[in-house]
Amino acid sequence: MADAPSTIGQGRIIAHRGASRAAPENTLSAFREAARQGARWVELDVSLLGDGTAVIHHDATWDRCTNGSGALADAGAGDLAALDAGSWFGMAYAGEPVPTLKQTLDLLEGLGLFANLEMKPHGAADRRLASGVAAALTARPWAAERVLVSSFDQGELAALRSHLPDQPIALLSKTAEDWVDTARTLRAAALHVHIAALNGDLLEEAALHGINLSTYTVNDPALVRPYRDRGLGGVITDDPSLFLDDPAWAAWGAH
Ligand code: G3P
Ligand code: CA
Repeated sequence: MADAPSTIGQGRIIAHRGASRAAPENTLSAFREAARQGARWVELDVSLLGDGTAVIHHDATWDRCTNGSGALADAGAGDLAALDAGSWFGMAYAGEPVPTLKQTLDLLEGLGLFANLEMKPHGAADRRLASGVAAALTARPWAAERVLVSSFDQGELAALRSHLPDQPIALLSKTAEDWVDTARTLRAAALHVHIAALNGDLLEEAALHGINLSTYTVNDPALVRPYRDRGLGGVITDDPSLFLDDPAWAAWGAH
């Protein structure tokens, strides 16, 4: 398996979709809020529009998190200006744009944040998403050590790996079953599992294989406290302040 770069070590408090309890998910405001709360890492979802533009958005449609409706696959870059990704969350965020991947990477670079980019192909198998992500990362030399690319879709990860042989990759798995061979094939540095699948045996197995293990989505620090000093690599949370306002977690998350 690939060695995890030192930047992807133990002790990461990762803001899920940005600080998405305090600001609308997957927006520039949510990433700024994560930095304001003291997070060093953000997780974000990358989806493609029909014209190939990579944007930061979780769902296959606009309906839940914008004032728009319909499929992203039916939209193009020219449609973004009409979308409001903030009002659904609160009028203080009215007019918040759906950010492109490029805009977001520029912001993260400016804020000095590390990023976990989750690729969301929404069932597409053409691997244009991996190609687009690879192109965006290749244009930013800092991303080689500060961006961890993940996906539930192993084909998308394999495509990303073919474009970027050295990019840190995390295999996403809800159940953490049968992950070892896949992680080895992908030369993954990390495994991200649902909190329900986290246990001591899995931590030991990950350590045995040189894999950095993180868990999602944890909004109660007590759930992961037993694993904090047993090699847990990171915690993906909607509310980084829950952890970072606690000195013991803040010290762990400062690594
Ligand atoms: O990356 C961890 C987590 O974000 C995966 O689930 O649905 O929140 O993207 P989801
Ligand atoms: Ca995600």
